[in-house]
Amino acid sequence: MPATDTNIQSHRTPGSDGSRGSDGTPSTTRPKSADDIADLYADVADSLHRWRWADRLVTGRYRERQFGAASGCVLDVACGTGTNFPYLPVDVDLVGIDISPEMLANAREALDRLPLEGSLRRMDAQSLAFPADSFDTVVSALSTCTFPDPIEALQEMERVCKPDGRILLLEHGRSEVGPLARFQDWRAEAHYEKRGCRWDQEPVALVEQAGLPVVDEWTALLGTVTGIETAPR
Ligand SMILES: C[S@@+](CC[C@H](N)C(=O)[O-])C[C@H]1O[C@@H](n2cnc3c(N)ncnc32)[C@H](O)[C@@H]1O
Repeated sequence: MPATDTNIQSHRTPGSDGSRGSDGTPSTTRPKSADDIADLYADVADSLHRWRWADRLVTGRYRERQFGAASGCVLDVACGTGTNFPYLPVDVDLVGIDISPEMLANAREALDRLPLEGSLRRMDAQSLAFPADSFDTVVSALSTCTFPDPIEALQEMERVCKPDGRILLLEHGRSEVGPLARFQDWRAEAHYEKRGCRWDQEPVALVEQAGLPVVDEWTALLGTVTGIETAPR
């Protein structure tokens, strides 16, 4: 099934005053819009897909740990090239969304190779075109760092998740290790400009700022990778 466009709108971007927000969102003096982010991923979609073996090597075990128990109707928010798909149980009913048609084209290829039922749609994570309480499990990986407004996106995940459902996140952010964290701080602005990725964000603080309960959390790779389970309030 081809990816279809749904609900692509412009949204406010935090940090436009250059300050670090109390929500753990780092400062960015030139915040990018959803369109900017889509353009950026259009350029890298095919190479990310070609290099997926490298991603698996680094993050595969963490994706397995975080998403291996997803169940029922599963929404993968900002599914990118479908990197999470091989780690989902084969009996889930999957919907993947992303802002980038090029990333979704590669996700389609990834999905077609797997014994997994699913559909893909172009959609803005900050304005999900699903009714409330639609999904048993909402998963998302390495995504909040690129959303223009990650708080809005997290609250959308909460809205579409069933009241007894689970929201499983695998995020990256500022290291727990001083020298590495300071390097990230130093290069944060340049990294965001080039990649559209806030690599000095604090994922747990973001979830708390969105008002969601942190049910479980763990970190890996010197604290740069964080697994978070949250749930609708
Ligand atoms: C770093 S990639 C992660 C992709 C995938 N989840 C993974 O783990 O490999 C970030 C993804 O977020 C998507 N994205 C960024 N902003 C978005 C938005 N507002 N709505 C939907 N997708 C968005 C990008 O197009 C990109 O595919």
